[in-house]
Amino acid sequence: MRKLVLGSMSALLIATSLQANAQPDPEEQIIFRKAGYSFMSWNMGKIKAMAIDGTMAWDPAQVQAAANSIAATANSGMGALFTPGTEKSIGDTKTNVRPEMFTDMEGVGKVAMAFSKAANELAEVAKTGDKAAIIKAFAATGDSCKGCHDKYREKM
Ligand code: HEC
Repeated sequence: MRKLVLGSMSALLIATSLQANAQPDPEEQIIFRKAGYSFMSWNMGKIKAMAIDGTMAWDPAQVQAAANSIAATANSGMGALFTPGTEKSIGDTKTNVRPEMFTDMEGVGKVAMAFSKAANELAEVAKTGDKAAIIKAFAATGDSCKGCHDKYREKM
């Protein structure tokens, strides 16, 4: 009986936290989007270290894993983390988003599409292990990150 009660309690707790994560409140949205971008940045850094700087040993499987992580994040629907109420920092949770991100829907759509295309191409090319092609696709992805930052992120 005790076990059963505990079991259903933890099921309830899990259900509650999943619900909270599926519809994050404004502060969580800022935390999640910054985490997503930081995670992509880490993975971009690994590809750069392996393919360009040579500070990490060239490892096609690791390049592919990093590219897949970037593409998966790009495909995760991060637009849902920019609802009204997330334009400004909330308490200690700072945001560097610019207000244009919430008004210039056409422009945001363009940079988001370009980014999605580049990230998915990088993941495709990473499967081949072709270093020269990976470097090209990596550069295009980096440009697409910058394309959004130049317009919609405060200078950091
Ligand atoms: C569609 C627009 C867009 C694209 C594409 C984009 N970013 Fe960003 N990025 C932002 C915005 C907006 C912020 C600021 C988020 C905030 O502070 O709320 C940001 C913040 C960041 C941050 C800082 C996170 C933090 O903790 O403050 C990093 C790092 C970053 N982006 C890296 C990347 C990388 C790497 C890519 C490409 C692989 C990328 N971004 C693609 C819009 C974009």
